[in-house]
Amino acid sequence: MSLAGEQAPSSTRQDSRRPGARPVVLALLGASVAGAFPAFARAATSAYVGDMACNSCHEDKVRSYHGTAHFRTSSMPTSDTIHGKFGPGSNTLMTVNPNLYFEMEADERGFFQTAHLRSSPTEVLTRSERIDIVVGSGRKGQSYLFWDGDQLFQLPLSYWTGLDGWVNSPGYTDGRADFDRTIGPRCLECHAGRFESRAPPRNRYNVSSIVLGITCERCHGPGGEHVDRFSSATPPRSPAERAIVNPARLSRARQLDICGQCHEGLGTSITPPLSFVPGDELDRHLTFAKLAPSARVDVHASQVQLLERSKCFRLSTTMTCGTCHDVHAEQRELTPFSSVCMTCHAIESCRRFPKLGRAIDGKCVDCHMPLQQTVQIISRVDGSSVRPMVRNHQIAIYPDGAAGSFQLTP
Ligand code: HEC
Ligand code: HEC
Ligand code: HEC
Ligand code: HEC
Ligand code: HEC
Ligand code: HEC
Ligand code: HEC
Repeated sequence: MSLAGEQAPSSTRQDSRRPGARPVVLALLGASVAGAFPAFARAATSAYVGDMACNSCHEDKVRSYHGTAHFRTSSMPTSDTIHGKFGPGSNTLMTVNPNLYFEMEADERGFFQTAHLRSSPTEVLTRSERIDIVVGSGRKGQSYLFWDGDQLFQLPLSYWTGLDGWVNSPGYTDGRADFDRTIGPRCLECHAGRFESRAPPRNRYNVSSIVLGITCERCHGPGGEHVDRFSSATPPRSPAERAIVNPARLSRARQLDICGQCHEGLGTSITPPLSFVPGDELDRHLTFAKLAPSARVDVHASQVQLLERSKCFRLSTTMTCGTCHDVHAEQRELTPFSSVCMTCHAIESCRRFPKLGRAIDGKCVDCHMPLQQTVQIISRVDGSSVRPMVRNHQIAIYPDGAAGSFQLTP
C-alpha cells in the first residue's frame, strides 16, 4: 500500500509549465534516418519547431487540427480540459474497501485526488496528489498524471465518459490506493508531441521539455528547414525542395508506419523514444509480435493490424488510413464513411441488398466495421468492470447482431 501519512503535494516545478505554453523544442536527430531516404527529407531532419511555427502559412490547418482529439490527447489541467467533476455529490469515489474512499478537490493550487484510508479506529491516513497532466481528449475517458520531482506517475482515478464519473484507473485494483504506477516513454510517445527522457528509472523526464498534444511534426517530420526555406527570398518551387514529409507522397507501407507509431499496438521499442521520423520503416524502431492470421487482435489501438487483415486492404493497392480519415479535422458523422465504401463497391454488391434494399445506404460501416468492446482497457468500479466500445477496423462480414448500433430505419 503506497499511502503516506499527510503527504503534502509539492507545488514547485510550476513555472516551467505555464498553462498553454508550447515550448519550441530544438532537437538534433542522429542516425535514425535510413540511407535510402530521399535527399529532401534528410535535409528536413534539422530541427523541430512546434505547431505555432506552421501557423503563419498554414493557419487554417493549425486551427482545424487544434480542435481534434489528436491535439487534445494530452493537456495542462484546467476546468475545461479536465472532464472529471469536482462539485459536491460527484467528487467522491467509494471503493469495495469500506475503509478507503477518494475525494477530488479543486482550489487555487490546482486539481487534486486524495485517498482517505482509515487504518485504525482512530487514525485516517491521507495522500493527496495534484493533477499535473491530463491524458485523453475525453471522447472515451481521461487518465491523470502527477510529477514527483522529475518522475512521472499515474493517479489512481480516471474519468469515464460513458458513466460521466470517476472510476479506478484501467488495470487498478478496486479498494487500493496506488500512487506508484510509473509512466514510461511509450505512453508519452503515443499521447504527447515531444519530450526528453532522462537516465533511468524509465519515468524520469526533463519536465520543461514535454510538449503536450500530438504535434504536426509527428506525422510530417521536423519542420525547421521547411520554415526557413519558405521564409527565404527564394522559396522552393518544386515539391522536392520543400524539406517536409507529405505522407501522401510516401509508399502505402510508409504511410501506414506513420500512423502505426501509435495505432499498431504497444510493440517493443528497439531505439530510443521518438527516434522514428516519418518516412522511416517503423520496424527499425518498434517490433510487434507477429500474430497468426486467425489470432484475436484487440480492437484497442490496433487499427493497423486489423485493417491489414481486411480483404479490402489486401486486394486493393490504394487503401490506407487516409482513404477514410482526414486527421486535420474532426470527423463525427458516420454516414460519410459509407460513401468511401461506395468508391469501390456498388450498393448492389452487398448480399443484404436484395432483402434490405436502400435501407443499407449510408450504413455500410454499421455492419462491416461494427463497434465492439475492447478486451484491453478495463476499469473497475462498484465491483464490476467497464470497457469502452471501439470501431473494429477489420472490414469483413460479421454475424447478425454484431452490429449493435444498426437501426433499420430508412
Ligand atoms: C513561411 C511559410 C510556411 C511555413 C511557416 C510552413 N509552411 Fe508548410 N508549406 C508552405 C508552402 C508555401 C507550401 C507549398 C504548398 C502549397 O503550395 O499549397 C507548404 C507545403 C507544406 C506541406 C506539403 C508538402 C508537399 O510536399 O506537398 C506540408 C506537409 C507542410 N507544408 C507542413 C508544414 C508544417 C508541419 C509546418 C510547421 C512546422 C509548416 N508547413 C510551416 C509554407 C510554409
Ligand atoms: C501504442 C500507443 C499507445 C500507448 C502506449 C498508450 N495509448 Fe492510450 N490510446 C492510444 C490510442 C490510439 C487511443 C485511442 C484509440 C483507441 O482506443 O483505439 C488511446 C486512448 C486512450 C484514452 C482514452 C482517450 C479518449 O478520450 O478516448 C486514455 C485515457 C489513454 N489512452 C491513456 C493512456 C495512458 C495513461 C497511457 C500510458 C500509461 C496510454 N494511454 C498508452 C494509444 C496509446
Ligand atoms: C496524425 C498525423 C498528422 C498530423 C498530426 C498532421 N498531419 Fe498534415 N498530413 C497528414 C497526412 C496523412 C497528410 C497527407 C494526406 C492528406 O492530404 O490529408 C497530410 C497533409 C498535409 C499537408 C499537405 C496537404 C494539404 O492538404 O495541403 C499540409 C500542408 C499539412 N498536412 C499540414 C499540417 C499541419 C500544419 C499540421 C499541424 C497543425 C498537420 N499537418 C498535422 C497527417 C498529419
Ligand atoms: C503520436 C501518436 C499518434 C499518431 C502518429 C497517430 N495517432 Fe491517431 N490517435 C492517437 C491517440 C492517442 C488517439 C486518441 C486521442 C484521444 O481521444 O485522446 C488517436 C485518435 C485517432 C482517431 C480518432 C479521432 C477522434 O476524433 O476520436 C483517428 C481517426 C486517428 N487517430 C487516426 C490516425 C491516423 C489516420 C494517423 C496517421 C495519419 C494517426 N492517427 C496517427 C495517437 C496517434
Ligand atoms: C479501395 C477500395 C475499397 C474500399 C474503399 C472498400 N473496399 Fe471493400 N473490398 C475491396 C476489395 C478489392 C475487396 C475484395 C474483392 C471483393 O470482394 O469485391 C473488398 C471486399 C469487401 C467485403 C467482403 C469481405 C470478406 O471478408 O469477404 C466487404 C464486406 C467489403 N469489402 C465491405 C466494404 C465496406 C463496408 C467498405 C467501407 C467501410 C469498403 N468495403 C471499402 C475494396 C474496397
Ligand atoms: C444490416 C447489415 C448490413 C449493412 C447495413 C450492409 N451490409 Fe454488406 N453484408 C452484410 C452481410 C450479413 C453480408 C454477408 C451476407 C451473406 O453472406 O449472406 C454482406 C455482404 C457484403 C459484401 C460481400 C459480398 C460478396 O459477394 O462477398 C459486400 C462487398 C458488402 N456487403 C458491401 C456493403 C456495402 C458497400 C454496404 C453499404 C452500402 C453494406 N454492405 C451494408 C450486412 C450488411
Ligand atoms: C474504410 C474506412 C476506414 C479506414 C480505411 C480506416 N478507418 Fe479508422 N475509422 C473508420 C470509421 C467508420 C470510424 C468510426 C468513426 C466514429 O465512430 O465516429 C473510425 C474510427 C477510428 C478511430 C477511433 C477509434 C474508435 O474506436 O472510436 C481510430 C483511432 C481510427 N479510426 C484509426 C484508423 C487508422 C490508424 C487507420 C489506418 C490503419 C484507419 N483508421 C483506417 C473508418 C476507417
